[in-house]
Amino acid sequence: MKYVFLLVLLIIASAGALLGGAVAYRWVHNMTQTVRIVPGERIFAMPSGVVPRGTTPIIPKEQREVAARQPNPIKATESSLTVGRQHYQTFCVPCHGPAAKGGVSGPVATKFIPTPDLTNAELQRQRTDGYWHSYIVAGGAVMPSYGEALSSQEAWHIVNYLRSLAQK
Ligand code: HEC
Repeated sequence: MKYVFLLVLLIIASAGALLGGAVAYRWVHNMTQTVRIVPGERIFAMPSGVVPRGTTPIIPKEQREVAARQPNPIKATESSLTVGRQHYQTFCVPCHGPAAKGGVSGPVATKFIPTPDLTNAELQRQRTDGYWHSYIVAGGAVMPSYGEALSSQEAWHIVNYLRSLAQK
């Protein structure tokens, strides 16, 4: 009887040791310790003959006054407003709300920073199209930039859409 007890104890102990060993093995053999390229570790040369296409350089937000003077190259046609509204709904509604009224009308704004009312007539008067375009592509004080998600053209469409929401 005594031996059976000891045998069971031994089986449990060795099962425990096996599990512990497996955990320890996986702990030591971390996935981050495999062969890999760390971001920024190497600079890959661009293939020769490559030229950037279809993009306009983004003026950094530190040079907002320069960006603010850019004229809006896109007419506020019906189709421009449609494109602008679509992108607004995708990227901006979470913080600015479905009607761009700001405050906490956007679902994320309640947990973030309440946004300004973009339909406000006074704000609309103060800002140039270029200023808002720059806000979208280069970001604001806390607002993230959308220069990587949206092309410069798409940002102008959004500006046109925002203009159409101005309170009279
Ligand atoms: C993560 C939340 C967030 C998202 C998403 C966001 N914004 Fe903003 N936005 C803000 C905040 C906060 C402000 C207030 C100014 C600041 O601190 O940057 C602001 C300010 C602005 C302003 C006012 C700038 C001024 O002072 O005249 C405009 C215009 C604007 N956003 C447009 C947009 C557009 C268009 C999008 C979508 C492409 C967008 N925002 C997406 C948070 C956001």
